[in-house]
Amino acid sequence: MLAVVGTAWGQVATEANRLYQTEEGRAALARGLGDPGRDGTQKPGELVAALGIGSGATVADVGAGVGYMLPYLSKAVGESGLVLAEDIQSDFLEIARKKVAGEKLGNVKLVLGAETDPRLPPGAVDLELLLDVYHHFDYPEKMLAALAAALRNDGRMAIVEYYQREMPAGHIRLDRDDVIREVESYGFRIASRNDHITNQQYLLIFAKK
Ligand SMILES: C[S@@+](CC[C@H](N)C(=O)[O-])C[C@H]1O[C@@H](n2cnc3c(N)ncnc32)[C@H](O)[C@@H]1O
Repeated sequence: MLAVVGTAWGQVATEANRLYQTEEGRAALARGLGDPGRDGTQKPGELVAALGIGSGATVADVGAGVGYMLPYLSKAVGESGLVLAEDIQSDFLEIARKKVAGEKLGNVKLVLGAETDPRLPPGAVDLELLLDVYHHFDYPEKMLAALAAALRNDGRMAIVEYYQREMPAGHIRLDRDDVIREVESYGFRIASRNDHITNQQYLLIFAKK
């Protein structure tokens, strides 16, 4: 049962964010996040297909890391679209910047966010993708309020997460049904729930309330 909704929280993702505290930790994480071998377990092409992104859309890759999803998102929105690649770690964004330049992803813009605010333009985003990111939010209620404000009225937010049992104990704060309850209490309503990778990763789509 979810016990924290409605309370004023301090940081809640201490365990998940432990490695992010040092430059060495982030360098190790960056290697894993950008490893092409990740495609086999992450299935980025299938994920983008499941998101149904239209040409010309504005998509925010919230917590974009080193830019793993950017080539897929860039292609999906096309030349008339825009991808906002947001993260709170400037060293990750620097790696993403090189990828964007190297692969000539002309429709991708990098955004340095803060841990309580992704600094996205208000009411401008069609789809917010949070891939393996939600359980890293230390201030989920503030992030959700800011993410709701950045969405267009008919926009959607997609959360992809591992089931809690797939990760070491303590890494993932909430399992799927509690994520739904928490997100629904901060300005969203659930539109669909499916597995992205059967029995491992789930995909939740939310609309604005
Ligand atoms: C496990 S990584 C996933 C990165 C990327 N989505 C991917 O799948 O390659 C989690 C990311 O969330 C970012 N993050 C943590 N808290 C955040 C916040 N409040 N706002 C935006 N990004 C955040 C981290 O810096 C990190 O890049």
